[in-house]
Amino acid sequence: MNHPRPQFLHFADVEAAGNAAAHEIARTLIDAVEARSTATLVLAGGSTPRSIHARLADHESSPPVPWHLVHLFWGDERCVPPDDEAGNYAMARSSLLDRIEIPPGNVHRIRGELRPSDAAARYDADLRRHFGDGRPPAFDCVMLGMGADGHTASLFPGDPLSDETERWVGTSDGLNASPPVPRVSLTLPILNAARKVVFVVSGAAKRRVVSEIEEQAEGFRRYPAARVRCPGSTLWFVAADS
Ligand code: 6PG
Repeated sequence: MNHPRPQFLHFADVEAAGNAAAHEIARTLIDAVEARSTATLVLAGGSTPRSIHARLADHESSPPVPWHLVHLFWGDERCVPPDDEAGNYAMARSSLLDRIEIPPGNVHRIRGELRPSDAAARYDADLRRHFGDGRPPAFDCVMLGMGADGHTASLFPGDPLSDETERWVGTSDGLNASPPVPRVSLTLPILNAARKVVFVVSGAAKRRVVSEIEEQAEGFRRYPAARVRCPGSTLWFVAADS
């Protein structure tokens, strides 16, 4: 893979990292709309991504983010109903969607209320309807978090889904996750087709894994997050504190 090496940007705290990441994402969306009259953003689950969503909702930029021309997708979803706070859609609803003007047709949620395999099939069909059926879609920006075990989206270490090379969407039993519920997730082929990936990572518990990935320490590729490396830029916004 000759994609550029990921760039790691370190910040003293989650406030600084969050502001910088939100600015990067906003700029990316504005530039994409200027270039192609539309933009695609993949949202992530978790508390660090949640803080980025809120900053995006409040983001003051000139020009502002043209949300009416942005299509939102998810990197993964817990298999729970859309109004269940454990779900990434419900989290995005409260932290971003309810605070911006975006047409409902631009919001492409994963239907967590369905059986995992049905939810994955529906999401795959939605992606192909939006991007076409050929090569994996090149999202303008994919936001990702990382767990202390090096998982990202719902690609967990040792889970066969993390080694998927063909399918765009798959399922995981999520038994080692928190909450331990089945998941639907984009796979590495899609994450690694993006124009830009923005990791947002905070917390002392992740520091060792981040440095192993940054230094490409022996065995670092066992972490699914370490295998995300897109043709455009793969940026890690890392906050030292929790
Ligand atoms: C999920 C996320 C997951 C998350 C990381 C980081 O559905 O849980 O997709 O990959 O981004 O676990 O979460 P925190 O920022 O809360 O540690």
